[in-house]
Amino acid sequence: MTQYELESGIEKLTLALFQWFHRHPELALSEFETTKKIKAVLQEHNIDILSNPMDTGVFAKIGGKKPGSLIALRADIDALPINEESGLPYSSEHSNRMHACGHDFHLTNLLATAIELKKIEDQLNGSILLIFQPAEEVDHGADRVVNTGILNGVEAIFGLHVNPELPTGVVGVKTGNFNAAVDRFFVTFHGKGTHAAHPESGDDVIVATGEFIVAAQTIVSRNVNPFDPSVVSITHLESGKTWNVLPNTSLLEGTVRSFDKKTREKIKTRLQKVASGIAATNEVTSEFQWVDGAPAVVNDQRLTKFVETVALKKHFDVVHLEASMGGEDFSCYQQIIPGTFFNVGVGSAYPVHSSKFKADPKAFETSIPLFVALVKSYLEG
Ligand code: NI
Repeated sequence: MTQYELESGIEKLTLALFQWFHRHPELALSEFETTKKIKAVLQEHNIDILSNPMDTGVFAKIGGKKPGSLIALRADIDALPINEESGLPYSSEHSNRMHACGHDFHLTNLLATAIELKKIEDQLNGSILLIFQPAEEVDHGADRVVNTGILNGVEAIFGLHVNPELPTGVVGVKTGNFNAAVDRFFVTFHGKGTHAAHPESGDDVIVATGEFIVAAQTIVSRNVNPFDPSVVSITHLESGKTWNVLPNTSLLEGTVRSFDKKTREKIKTRLQKVASGIAATNEVTSEFQWVDGAPAVVNDQRLTKFVETVALKKHFDVVHLEASMGGEDFSCYQQIIPGTFFNVGVGSAYPVHSSKFKADPKAFETSIPLFVALVKSYLEG
């Protein structure tokens, strides 16, 4: 059973905010109206807004009346380029924009938590930094926040993601590896195109591409420790335009998912070597490009245990989650301070990033009291 110990009125406000954010989704780095609304709510509750050099996103602070630690709570605020088909009465008012990853839930949760914490500000030993982070979906937002220096002096950071597979209100935690590092790569083969009937007069980049696709799949199975999870997926191919011409170039694009830093580096090196080796045997040339994404989310053991203990004290149901090969840029914060990223169930029949995804707002009855309790227990600790 979940408890909703918040004062009467907040539930209504929380729902109204959630529905407003759900109706007005904005894509990464264009979260202007979202930013305005967050600021307006904070101002209405006399919560200090800190300066932020970024165009979108909000930093705010509560506490500091009594000495103590500084901890951070992070919510992401961006939506996805998806046409909503959830059937909700408060569906997106914009075509091809939808809060299909629950970031509207995350940011409403943080706002409601802030309102509750502001009421008990005088009793808090220490302070809380609130981070409303833009652009999680394109992997640059957390990096941008870190680069502002706002995390200087922060001792620990907590972040939440909705989980459609967990029943509403169930808390999911995991120590250590939680979300994989997300990288992207491109391989281009260049050769001398020729008549399809006379392959001997030129090169065949299509054959090289086919060999590369198969050989790249041996990297995880032959070069990586089987106990170290990793994925190589090739997702995009472009070459040729017709049936009787061997083309000059062929492009491949794909993604690598990994947890271990050395494995991440090894897969990158092997992909490059496999591409240049296959190019050499086919007498063509290859180009390799690697784009670093967010590193792996690795949850701090002490903080994860702390979340579990606080959730159990509040009589919430807690489950231990499996790691996921999906990415999350919460990891950027964990590169500089200890943090833990956990889940709250929102009982959706459809996964996140689905046009039919629905987050059950009843999950606020868990997430808000849990966030408030985390802050109180940590600062009392
Ligand atoms: Ni998300």
